Amino acid sequence: RLLIIDFGSQVTQLIARRLRELNVYCEIHPYQNVTMDFVREMDPKAVIFSGGPDSVTREGSPRAPQEIFDYGVPILGICYGQQVMMHQLGGKVESGHGTAEFGRAYVTPSEERIDLLTGWFLEQTEQVWMSHGDHVSEIAPGFQVYGTSPNAPFAITADLERNFYAVQFHPEVHHTPNGATLYENFVRLAGFKGDWTMGAYREQMVEKIREEVGDKKVICGLSGGVDSSVAAVLIHEAIGDQLTCVFVDHGLLRKGEAEEVVTMFRDNYNMQLIHADEQELFLGELDGQSDPETKRKIIGKLFIDVFQKHADTIEGAEFLAQGTLYPDVIESVSFSGGPSVTIKSHHNVGGLPEKMGLKLVEPLRELFKDEVRALGRELGLPQSFIGRHPFPGPGLAIRCPGEITREKLDILREADAIYIDQIRKHGLYDDIWQAFVAILPVRTVGVMGDGRTYDYACALRAVTSVDGMTADYYPFSHEFLGETATRIINEVKGINRCTYDITSKPPGTIEWE
Ligand code: XMP
Repeated sequence: RLLIIDFGSQVTQLIARRLRELNVYCEIHPYQNVTMDFVREMDPKAVIFSGGPDSVTREGSPRAPQEIFDYGVPILGICYGQQVMMHQLGGKVESGHGTAEFGRAYVTPSEERIDLLTGWFLEQTEQVWMSHGDHVSEIAPGFQVYGTSPNAPFAITADLERNFYAVQFHPEVHHTPNGATLYENFVRLAGFKGDWTMGAYREQMVEKIREEVGDKKVICGLSGGVDSSVAAVLIHEAIGDQLTCVFVDHGLLRKGEAEEVVTMFRDNYNMQLIHADEQELFLGELDGQSDPETKRKIIGKLFIDVFQKHADTIEGAEFLAQGTLYPDVIESVSFSGGPSVTIKSHHNVGGLPEKMGLKLVEPLRELFKDEVRALGRELGLPQSFIGRHPFPGPGLAIRCPGEITREKLDILREADAIYIDQIRKHGLYDDIWQAFVAILPVRTVGVMGDGRTYDYACALRAVTSVDGMTADYYPFSHEFLGETATRIINEVKGINRCTYDITSKPPGTIEWE
């Protein structure tokens, strides 16, 4: 195993992710917890010092235990981690003086090439990502320089004798394109075989959940989305019937979705599942409402009330399980208290655990979306389920601009099912981040057979995206669009016109409300 000492960088989890990609098992521990006793107990084969926001020149700033340098394992220091190493091993670090570097930089190699840099500098220089205010002004005894950038004369340093490596930039981020190779070289040097798998992760998490929960009960809000489903299946594997899932059916789900979720979890997985059919309540409260934010607020509030009502029937529950992923954790940290305006009040159950006096179980907190999918596959969830497009908490309500009626929802469900069927048939589903139909609050005139029609218009939406933050419309062929529009208009009673939404995000959003 490999120990990552976390000095508070925003991107420490990315180091862990890179290592998991190399099939190396690692654990991240905050520097405060890493004493020498801890290190001896864990007995890591290698250690990585993460970056961090502090300055080693400040008294009381984070350090590694001094004896770790005598423990005899390879150490890699990143950014603040480099500075800690230099400082603790007898070099010098200085603040500011115009040598701060943020963003892209180019590193050139020294004459001598070391194993850590195998596969590096195939071109003249390597692009790296810097983010530091302080800089090393004198390297520690035993170290040599193996790469420099204009503002970082000690961009890559190493003490080959002791297997210590220290770099000023962040090899874990996307903007250091060859960064993964550096980690690969480091773990190889440290003697890792790269034989750790998602299966092992599953076992570890099961153990961890058992330890955390003991013989207490857990409730879990199951939405039918990938994250909550994987979390539920994993927790169920760990504690079986100590887990009860609550599936809130707000009447705003897609065609056949509620049955699918209930069948899968109740019948296939044998989970205790409360199917809270609250359609009447939600649709009743939404009746006559057309303002997007009002609709979202109503749904968010009712969701919490309903969830709580059903959760209260489970006696002795002490934990609430959530499918929080790592990107959700970073977003909520970096945006909290920030001056950003509310574009859309996202629907979530924030505040619920405090309100109900529950502790949280969040087994996916360290993972990224594609890793959750891999874990889901490992747990035997069907691929058709794992690869599903994201679906928003407020469901079809935000795909039905203006007032929501049962009639419109039924029409929308039919059209959406045909659209998705078309996309699957043409083998396009996995190339698209999200696709759906929105039913528009206008009726238009048409002619079918020999008669006049006066029915709803709908808009098809399909976007590509990496994270939902930005998006572009999907370039369907004209044939595909024509064929799909024909099918929808012919097969769905109530729609007589079909448009394709070609707005990118920004300036548009993915959903219509
Ligand atoms: P927008 O429409 O803001 O959507 O571009 C970005 C992504 O977020 C999803 N979305 C939501 N997901 N609760 C959710 O869980 C919400 O309230 C919500 N609103 C939008 C949207 O489907 C897209 O994937």
